[in-house]
This record gives sequence, structure tokens and C-alpha cells, in this order.
Amino acid sequence: MADLEGVKIAKNYHTDEPFANNKGFYIKGANHLDWGMKKHLSNIFNPVSGNTVMFAFDHGYFMGSTAGLERLDLLIPTLIPYIDVLMGTRGALRACVPPENKKGIALRVTSGSSMVQDDLSHEVLAVDIKDAIRMNADCMAVQTFIGADGQLSSLDNLSRCINAGIEYSVPTMGVVAVGKQMERTDRFFKLATRILGELGVNIIKTYYCENFEEIVAASPVPIVVAGGKKLPEPEALKLAYDSISHGANGVDMGRNIFQSNHATIMAQAIGKIVHEKYTDKEAYEFYQDMVNEEEK
Ligand code: R5P
Repeated sequence: MADLEGVKIAKNYHTDEPFANNKGFYIKGANHLDWGMKKHLSNIFNPVSGNTVMFAFDHGYFMGSTAGLERLDLLIPTLIPYIDVLMGTRGALRACVPPENKKGIALRVTSGSSMVQDDLSHEVLAVDIKDAIRMNADCMAVQTFIGADGQLSSLDNLSRCINAGIEYSVPTMGVVAVGKQMERTDRFFKLATRILGELGVNIIKTYYCENFEEIVAASPVPIVVAGGKKLPEPEALKLAYDSISHGANGVDMGRNIFQSNHATIMAQAIGKIVHEKYTDKEAYEFYQDMVNEEEK
């Protein structure tokens, strides 16, 4: 372990320089991966825009039945046409998602905490790689708790998932957790995302923050931005726009889609930003036009 005394603050992120090892394949950090990994990543990131709209509906794994997700069997089929990736648990995916859909699958593979606990940071790796393969998962999502009580076990979960994923060519998505006691500063997100990148994840899911372009520049793999609590639609669209315009390769939104009064229209508006270079204002105009049309 290096002596921490005298460590200098990182500052040379060269945010105007594109990632240097991208020749040959369009997904950041995946140039030297094998065909199977690349195929799965291509199921996640659109080959034309390079980006993805993930729809997160894994909340039940620690929150139980969540407002808007009471009936996954009714909700998910309505959203499938408008998103790129379904992010859920194996229970929800197997029971409620039609297998004939062609969208990518981000399989939540960690578990072990619930919202009745004070400390959510202790989880286990709950899904075996063989079941992830049986479910045709395009990536396995592992929650990681940097700086929390459960950091060691969550990084152990992550490392074991990455090891199994490398063996069978299934990518791993490291998910940066935030908790009551954890910072939401760019300093924290720089630390957490870089640790995940160095440990070998293929995708990082994290939160938007100031100096986000530096986090993107220092990450060796694509970043998708988490949605978080329900915001008014213009603010959620601004979050998506800020994320994409500062270098994210997608968003992974749950409540800002399924708790919207117009979930399918919201998913489409987000897709306009992620794939078609709409600004948040243009996307909101699209949203309003579609709502007006629907209510005629
Ligand atoms: C967090 O990492 C979990 O995957 C959440 O269940 C999910 O991301 C929450 O989505 P949102 O915050 O956009 O509702």
C-alpha cells in the first residue's frame, strides 16, 4: 500500500481529449474484450448513438412493493418498446417480462438488505453466474458501498462477480450506492467510480454531480447515470441532458419513469435526449405534445 502522506489532488483529466483506446470497437474500455462480452455490451449500448436508456425496476429487492411498481406484469410490457435495457431481479424478470422481447437485460445479482434496516450496506452475491447465463443476462448489476460499513463485503461480491463474468463472458455493472451517511460530492464519486473501474467492471452506474466530465474522463468504462427520487418531468429531463452532455453513455432511471403520470411518454422523451441529441427543453416540448395528443 502506498504511503498516503503527500498524495497530490488529481487534476489533469484532459476532459477535451477522447478516450485513447477506442479504435476498433465503439464501447469505452471494451476494445480488448472477447466477442461474447462485446455482443452483450452491444445489446446494452445502441451501436448508432453509443448510448443506452436503462429502465430500473429492481426496487422491490430492498424496498418491497414500491409505488408505481405494484403490477410489474402490467407495467413492463407497456415500456419495453421505448427503452433499451430492462434492469431487474431474476424473480421479476422471470415472472413478469415476456421472454420474446428483444431488449437488453441488466440482472440485479446482489441482495441482503431491506429498508427496515438502518444500514443497507451489507449484501451478498445472491445469483449464481450459471443462472445469469440461463437468463441471457447482458450484464450483472452489483451494488457497491464505498466508504460504508459494508465496503469490504460489497467489493468482495463485486470481485467474485467480475471473476465469474470474465470466465463466461458476461459483463459486470458496478452500481455506486449512496446512503444516509455517505457523501454525494464529486470527491466521493471520483473515488467510488475509479475504484470500480480499476477492479474491472465493464459499466459503472453512478449519480450525476458537479465536475461530472472529470469523473467520465477518469473512468476506463462507460458511465450510466442513476435517476434517483421522482422529480418534476422538466427536472428529470434536465438531469438526463446534463448527464449525456457531460459524457455519460446513458441513464438508468426508475422512479422518474414509472412514477410519472405518463410513463411511456417520459421514457420516449428520455430516449430523445439519450439517442437523438435533443436538449432537455426540446424533450420536454416533445413530452407535452405527446401528453396533449394522448388527452385529446
Ligand atoms: C440502485 O442502484 C437500484 O438499482 C435502484 O433500485 C434503482 O437504481 C433505483 O432507480 P431510481 O433511483 O431511478 O428509481
